[in-house]
Amino acid sequence: MAIIFLIFLFLFTNLGAEELPFGVKQHLSTVTRYGAAKGGRNRNYIPAPAGCVPIHLNLVARHGTRAPTKKRIRELNNLENQLEMLLRAAVGNGLSLHKVPSWLKGWKSPWREKVTGGELIPEGEKELYDLGIRTRKLFTDLFSDDYHPDVYTIRATQIPRASASAVAFGMGLFSGRGSLGSDRHRAFSVVSESRASDTMLRFFDCCQRYEDYRKNQEPEVDKLKEPVLDDITKSLTERYGLNFTRQHISSLWFLCKQEASLLDITDQACGLFSPSEVALLEWTDDMEVFILKGYGNSLNYKMGVPLLQDIVQSMEKAITAKEEKQVPGSYEKARLRFAHAETVLPFTCLLGLFLEGEGHGFRQIQREQSLQLPPRPPATRIWKGSVVAPFAGNNMLVLYSCPANSSDEYFVQVLHNEEPIAMPGCDGSDFCSFKMFKDKIVAPHLEHDFNTLCTVNGEEPMLAPKSSADAESRFYM
Ligand SMILES: *[C@@H]1O[C@H](CO)[C@@H](O)[C@H](O)[C@H]1NC(C)=O
Ligand SMILES: *[C@@H]1O[C@H](CO)[C@@H](O)[C@H](O)[C@H]1NC(C)=O
Repeated sequence: MAIIFLIFLFLFTNLGAEELPFGVKQHLSTVTRYGAAKGGRNRNYIPAPAGCVPIHLNLVARHGTRAPTKKRIRELNNLENQLEMLLRAAVGNGLSLHKVPSWLKGWKSPWREKVTGGELIPEGEKELYDLGIRTRKLFTDLFSDDYHPDVYTIRATQIPRASASAVAFGMGLFSGRGSLGSDRHRAFSVVSESRASDTMLRFFDCCQRYEDYRKNQEPEVDKLKEPVLDDITKSLTERYGLNFTRQHISSLWFLCKQEASLLDITDQACGLFSPSEVALLEWTDDMEVFILKGYGNSLNYKMGVPLLQDIVQSMEKAITAKEEKQVPGSYEKARLRFAHAETVLPFTCLLGLFLEGEGHGFRQIQREQSLQLPPRPPATRIWKGSVVAPFAGNNMLVLYSCPANSSDEYFVQVLHNEEPIAMPGCDGSDFCSFKMFKDKIVAPHLEHDFNTLCTVNGEEPMLAPKSSADAESRFYM
């Protein structure tokens, strides 16, 4: 009897896992909260391969959940006026408002009083603080040394939400280890490069060729989104009896993302859209991220090579320290970096993660070709902003020493959002000898010199972005 009951329990829990109801919070592209992206899965233990011990950790993390920026606050203020005008027009035309959701009547933007924006909000602090605590639990031995800024290097960009994220992470990582306050916090240093020369964490801001590409490409991205926005505009106009325009729908989708992620409200702006409409809007965002920050153009990630080089160098130093049996406290054990989606996404591409179509995609990025756009829903895709770079999204590269292994002694494991992830460049394993990691994943990218790549009249021709006609035909396949 008990066994039958257990089997039932097993069946039901499994069914439950597969038939999760549609949750809009998991479909917000890069506005997705870290917890929503992970669906509550948090492991405190990553099995180290037998006979191996971690000797160094590299972390590249995005800042946590943040407030809308000034420009977006203005967009929402504008939406407030626009909605009011739509309602007035409907009344003026003698139409009833019975189809209009009640929240929309007299709606005021929750951010209307704010004049500044873009800062890390308390939810975002918590994401990083908790990540710091979990990181220490995952790598107890790595973080057992006394704190010294050269042993645990913490770097952030000069943008306040990134440096505040570094502080929140450090507070979690070192909590209970100091003498400050009842939680025994300790001080630690966070170093930033100046914005204009931060080629490691803000390469996208120091690369003229990329800035030109982005400026040229933005109207094309808008054009790609238009057919989806137009369809949804038509549906919502009918559904709610208001004369929405494409711009209204675009702003309402932005509002949905902010309400759901920042305020936990999913029954207002998000409630206007059906699940399949949300899936399409999410896809338009993911395409934008793909074209401007991902595999859509190899320039997007090639300019991240200084960061990749920095990581490899830090591993080589750790190996030297190990081989020379340097005394603990005299060498680095972790290099922790806090930056932006524009950092994490290209870096993820450099590692060759989240490619559609197995080995084929990896060969293309080794040759640094642009890849095809992720397929339109209902087709499934691997490239999702909500998974690749949600708020606090991160990659950890763990360097292991495996003295038991006769052929290779050092190995690299990649954790994406704290889960081991298969590397196509490493024959689909999440665990790669350091040599293979360097030869297969890093080396193909190293021929680029950042300055040559980013100089507008450099020798390398600008990769022709896909023409919009071209992209559009794929768009509907
Ligand atoms: C929408 O616009 C059309 C054409 O201008 C007009 O006939 C109609 O009454 C308007 N509907 C609403 C709800 O304002
Ligand atoms: C040693 O490393 C190789 C990969 O380089 C792996 O295939 C092998 O299983 C490892 N052997 C042991 C004993 O860990």
